[in-house]
Amino acid sequence: MIFLIRSSTVELSKYTIKNIPGSSGRFDVISRCILSALLGNDCFQKHVQIWIFLDKYGTYIFDSELLDHHSFPKNELKLANCLVELIINKNNLEKIPNNPLLGVKISSMQFFETIKTFLDKGFATAILEEDGIDFLKHVNKIDPEKQVFIIGNQSGDFLESEEFLELNIPKYTFGTTSYLASSIIRLIIFYLASNN
Ligand SMILES: C[S@@+](CC[C@H](N)C(=O)[O-])C[C@H]1O[C@@H](n2cnc3c(N)ncnc32)[C@H](O)[C@@H]1O
Repeated sequence: MIFLIRSSTVELSKYTIKNIPGSSGRFDVISRCILSALLGNDCFQKHVQIWIFLDKYGTYIFDSELLDHHSFPKNELKLANCLVELIINKNNLEKIPNNPLLGVKISSMQFFETIKTFLDKGFATAILEEDGIDFLKHVNKIDPEKQVFIIGNQSGDFLESEEFLELNIPKYTFGTTSYLASSIIRLIIFYLASNN
């Protein structure tokens, strides 16, 4: 299964680990979503990817099959620090030989280009929002190996963009209550695991 999340607010010039939410345009949401998507019990989830689209810094692909669980930073602060270091040095990775995220693919693919590519490859794609088709009523029709889930960031603002209307992507919901993006990712993994 593949998760896509985009942020236009992440801004790292004043990033400090002492106050990640306030100094980075909510980079904490991104690191929490990465951990939610990848971490299982003492191992990575199988065949899970999370693609992070940062409008100011590019695209970062975390593939559970390509990353080393042993060295992977497993808490929000450590992951945020390592990822900021990777982003800042993305054109000089030789400067950060000990960064545990060197297995992350740095891509120039854009958000909607990526969605269209997965659709062309026959993947089902769905947006997660506080209104839409009840996810639980639909879960046993989902093939995790061929499914892309689009999750909103702290505001979910980009989910309202015109381009989605053209793509006519279905919306799944876990009800009208607004949950954290990282919680929605855990819920999806939990229910798909218990249904497959
Ligand atoms: C914190 S929410 C975004 C803010 C929320 N849209 C609001 O207006 O307060 C983060 C993302 O998690 C997903 N999400 C949150 N609650 C959800 C729900 N009940 N069902 C499905 N997705 C949900 C959506 O993708 C949302 O954009």
